[in-house]
Amino acid sequence: MASKQPTHEDLLFEQGKEIEEGRSKLFPPKDAGTVIYPLYYEVPDNEFHLRLGASIVTQPAAIGYSEPGMNTNPRVPIRCFPHKHHAGEYFVHFGIDPDNPDDLGGRVEFWVGDGADAHGFTFDKPATIFVPPRVSHLPCVFREVRKPFIHIEWLDAPIWCQGVVVPTVAPGFSIEKPLTKNTPETGKYQTCFKQRVEAELPVIPAHKGKSHIILQHSMKECDIATDFMEINMVYGSGFGWGLGDVIVYSDRQERSLPHRHNVEETYLFIGTDKQHPEDLGGTVEFWMGDGIKEWEHVINRPTFLKVPPNTIHLPLYIKEVHHAFVIASVLNMPVWGGNNTEEFPKRRQFKTRK
Ligand SMILES: [Fe+2]
Ligand SMILES: [Fe+2]
Repeated sequence: MASKQPTHEDLLFEQGKEIEEGRSKLFPPKDAGTVIYPLYYEVPDNEFHLRLGASIVTQPAAIGYSEPGMNTNPRVPIRCFPHKHHAGEYFVHFGIDPDNPDDLGGRVEFWVGDGADAHGFTFDKPATIFVPPRVSHLPCVFREVRKPFIHIEWLDAPIWCQGVVVPTVAPGFSIEKPLTKNTPETGKYQTCFKQRVEAELPVIPAHKGKSHIILQHSMKECDIATDFMEINMVYGSGFGWGLGDVIVYSDRQERSLPHRHNVEETYLFIGTDKQHPEDLGGTVEFWMGDGIKEWEHVINRPTFLKVPPNTIHLPLYIKEVHHAFVIASVLNMPVWGGNNTEEFPKRRQFKTRK
């Protein structure tokens, strides 16, 4: 039996009332909208390979801190317990100031592992943490918040699974005493943590002054990673991805072209204006499919977009920007792999580079 052609509604999840619902689901009423401002939370489709959420952190807070007396500390509201589950989970933190891509905007402390193996990371630069399957994780504490920053987490499973609650925090953790350096400095989970190194990131010269890559993460950064992830900050218009522009890597050059993968890819469009979380901050054209099946998605709200396996996608064109925003993509394979094509949309004339 031929599989049903997915519709736009199957692939595109614009955020609107979900922001309100996510906010009320995540936080006790007293903290709603004041501690962390969620942009997205659960993907309302269990065929998605990811369960994914993004928040703007605006004040110090803790996730997964469960010691007795916790609730008496008004500075650090409880949200969930340290835990482990069968799927790997990614945690990504980065700043939203386009002029200072290396600045996280605060200091985060994140714990992986338990008992003698526990590893605490502390950082004030954009960073990714990959928690391998069946490994305890949390607390995650936002110790300082000088400027709002973004916290993204995604689980390599279609729906949230609490798994096994770990009733104690790591022995080196103290809510009152921030870590001053990673502990231990080397250890079992050292490779789970990757901080932004600008010199290692590719550059697209045609994007200069309009967008830059904040983070990339793949098996190259962490040899047990299962996904390829890229996060871009966008603050200009009249450019895009998949238009033939040259991408300059430290060791090679490639072109940004329409392509397909044999696995699913998820795009996130995240606004950074905490006063207007329902607004993306710009307008994006996203093209998917080829020939008579080609579709144009116009995106101007925070949105998840799913690209099914073997589906041609791009260009992604930034038409207008009135507030900086973030485009993130997560490809369900450990390093980028796909087949490029020079077939651009037929219904839309883009200025493309050969
Ligand atoms: Fe988790
Ligand atoms: Fe792709």
